[in-house]
Amino acid sequence: MGRMARRYPELVDGFGRTASDLRISITDRCNFRCRYCMPPEGMPWMPKDQLLSYEELTRLTSILVDSGVRSLKVTGGEPLVRHDVPTFVRLLRALRADLDISLTTNGYLLAQQAAELASAGLDRVTVSCDSLIKHRFAEMTLRDAFDEVMKGLHVAAEEGLGPVKLNTVVIEGVNDDEITAFAELARTTGFEVRFIEYMPLDAQQAWDRTKVIAGAAIIEAVAERYPLIADAHQAPEPATSFRFADGAPGRIGVIPSVTQPFCSTCDRLRLTADGQLRACLFSLEETDLRGPLRQGAADDDLAELARSCVAAKWAGHNIGSPSFRQPSRSMSMIGG
Ligand code: 5AD
Ligand code: SF4
Repeated sequence: MGRMARRYPELVDGFGRTASDLRISITDRCNFRCRYCMPPEGMPWMPKDQLLSYEELTRLTSILVDSGVRSLKVTGGEPLVRHDVPTFVRLLRALRADLDISLTTNGYLLAQQAAELASAGLDRVTVSCDSLIKHRFAEMTLRDAFDEVMKGLHVAAEEGLGPVKLNTVVIEGVNDDEITAFAELARTTGFEVRFIEYMPLDAQQAWDRTKVIAGAAIIEAVAERYPLIADAHQAPEPATSFRFADGAPGRIGVIPSVTQPFCSTCDRLRLTADGQLRACLFSLEETDLRGPLRQGAADDDLAELARSCVAAKWAGHNIGSPSFRQPSRSMSMIGG
């Protein structure tokens, strides 16, 4: 099975970057309330009729795969709060056997769904986890969910959804004292812990530059306790990753989006749950695909819309500059 060649030209932007990694947000809803993401009362959720069905999402994804996309990441909000995600994974897997398909989740519903996701064709998971201290985890997410998330991580590994990665957002004065503890978790489990610099993507717009811990400082903190060896850098992967010098299992990564932006090699493209295509996490503009899709546009027309969206991609996000403007959509409405 599987299609032989691309039907459409690759998605290349004005700076020569090719979009090959698609993040598909399937819902803006979430069962957590991470303080750096959304307010305790939640968000005004997208109206149901604006959400794309799994069939609609698959059709758009298929066109993007026919334009050269090879890696798919299912995300949210929290993707596992949408019903029957394995059905969607099955539809994606049917597009091409060699696609890399992963899921980014907060892990709360993972233990109960991991087996079914794996058999649907999911390759691996990334679990967001910002604290290994139960009461702090609850304070950070406003949910008493720590034990369930730990269970989810382990069940996912047992079900073959590895290498399991953790995403850990490090915030000054909140969890920066746990960097070594996360490294220890990597060493005892074989997980890859990826520390993420805190970015201005919160709905409350309360981001504060002084709360960012630089990736370089994070790596230094780990290496002081457990010496590290850097992997050969693989652009466009934004995470610089390291092994432990003493041969212990597990890996450490860092995503220094604020202090060392990886925009110049960024190969990502994002489709929101309501069918908007975004060439950058921080884009101030998006390309509506839902409207044309529902008005009966042909595949060729949708491919052309995607191509012009990517062609207009800007050079980078400029978080470092005074002219930086935070996008009006926050992280949960875009998808990590
Ligand atoms: N800064 C950095 N990372 C964030 N995430 C959500 N909001 C932010 C932010 N303001 C992370 C989540 C998840 C990933 C998709 O993005 O923790 O791991
Ligand atoms: Fe939910 Fe992820 Fe936002 Fe936390 S960061 S509230 S898990 S969408």
